[in-house]
Amino acid sequence: MLSKKLEKALNNQIQIEAESSQVYLSMASWAENQGLEGIAGFMYAHSDEERMHMLKLVKYVNERGGHALISDLKAPKTDFGTFQKMFQELYDHEVFVSQSINDLVHVTLEEKDYATHNFLQWYVAEQIEEEALARTILDKINLIGNDKGGLYLFDRDVQQITADSAAGPAPM
Ligand code: FEO
Repeated sequence: MLSKKLEKALNNQIQIEAESSQVYLSMASWAENQGLEGIAGFMYAHSDEERMHMLKLVKYVNERGGHALISDLKAPKTDFGTFQKMFQELYDHEVFVSQSINDLVHVTLEEKDYATHNFLQWYVAEQIEEEALARTILDKINLIGNDKGGLYLFDRDVQQITADSAAGPAPM
């Protein structure tokens, strides 16, 4: 059985993952409108992943005798300026999510809930991969600069850049 404090903290993370899914969906739609099909595809897939992160938490909370709450979400912005700025925002957002996962893991230790501590290790590993992926993409964007050919290739290939290739061998 989850403690009330941990249940609340897990519900907060459910909201963060749901909002992340909306943020990336909004980025996908913006990119599609700009004719950046590859980047849009990357963001649509990323949005789906965040929904999966959310669902995993929803099911866990309910399985442990808590009540997973589906709440109002903050509306994401709809204009991202340039795709370079958009990927910087993606990186900053993932750093924020990593911090919230860290805070959540801290609560499991305070509450001595080692089952939830164990469950959250998947998220800890996932955040390492997501940050590495975002950093790899930012490095590539810096290399391209304003080169139109480079941008064309980046848009074509961005969906092939996976978290695994960014992070190297999985730490299993
Ligand atoms: Fe679910 Fe990208 O963090």
